Amino acid sequence: MDQKDRILVIGALGQVGQELVETLRLRYGTERVIGSDIRLPENPPELFEAVDVLDTERLLAIVRKYNIRYIYHLAALLSATAEQKIKGGWRLNMQGLFNVLDLAVEGHIDKIFWPSSIAVFGPSTPRVDTPQTTVMDPNTVYGISKLAGERWCDYYHARFGVDVRSIRYPGLIGYKSLPGGGTTDYAVDIFHAALQQGSYTSFLGPDTRLPMMYMPDAIKATIGIMDAEAASVKIRSSYNIASMSFTPAEIGAEIGQHVPGFQLDYAPDHRQAIADSWPQSIVDQDARADWGWQESYDLAKMTADMLLNLKKQ
Ligand SMILES: NC(=O)c1ccc[n+]([C@@H]2O[C@H](COP(=O)([O-])OP(=O)(O)OC[C@H]3O[C@@H](n4cnc5c(N)ncnc54)[C@H](O)[C@@H]3O)[C@@H](O)[C@H]2O)c1
Repeated sequence: MDQKDRILVIGALGQVGQELVETLRLRYGTERVIGSDIRLPENPPELFEAVDVLDTERLLAIVRKYNIRYIYHLAALLSATAEQKIKGGWRLNMQGLFNVLDLAVEGHIDKIFWPSSIAVFGPSTPRVDTPQTTVMDPNTVYGISKLAGERWCDYYHARFGVDVRSIRYPGLIGYKSLPGGGTTDYAVDIFHAALQQGSYTSFLGPDTRLPMMYMPDAIKATIGIMDAEAASVKIRSSYNIASMSFTPAEIGAEIGQHVPGFQLDYAPDHRQAIADSWPQSIVDQDARADWGWQESYDLAKMTADMLLNLKKQ
């Protein structure tokens, strides 16, 4: 990337966006990374713009204003929220992606990162050790939009040569930002509740095993696939990536090692059905072989780090 070229993060106020902007700025320099979201934060930092990804004119104006060449497009309605706003979820998740892909077709940008999700899998998918290529029959608005998005990314790459790169994030856990309405949010909330109340009621049942990832690993994967040589990114739909899988009971027991007397109860709600349609564990050998994906955190290491940092806050 040329020194004058810049990076735009769309959805920069979200759970992933906040941490991604911070890391990209450390890596490339503050002035090269522009944050954007549909709204401005209370005290807008420098180099932050209000941009609705559905507003193509505004999006192009910002791309031109800052010489943007790379876009990390994170804006989406997540799994639980999209079930409440079916058409709005579909529109944002699909049209937002088209608007960014079309910027590349028209030659305004060179490279796109767009995250998919384990939600692309469905009830007929093998749930244990889910392979890269398998049955995919998502039954949520979110999962349907992510699977369609993957197919469009692959199509735009094959048809127009668009350099779009994607990974299927598992549930993401971090201490710097709060989750935005997904089915794995419990795994963040549980840490805050453990430290504040010493107890937590999980909205998923005790044995609901799901693939998860600590945010530093997710950010490492995101920047890793963007940094890879184009030829080594062989899958242009989206890559499986994995680091750990656990149940609410297992993370509760791990937290209990650090928070004596931690009490975990269960009251499964509508999100249980979504979780039950997703994989329990993921096979990610393609990401490891093609562009060198390697995680740094397992459940024990993540739990210790989460609690340490939340206590500091
Ligand atoms: N967090 C997870 O566990 C997880 C798991 C799998 C995939 N993902 C994917 O990663 C991406 C980021 O997720 P997140 O957890 O940070 O989501 P989030 O809900 O925390 O953040 C999304 C951001 O997008 C912004 N936004 C909404 N509509 C917009 C619009 N029209 N224009 C511009 N910005 C808009 C929101 O204000 C919000 O700040 C999403 O594509 C999501 O599907 C996340």
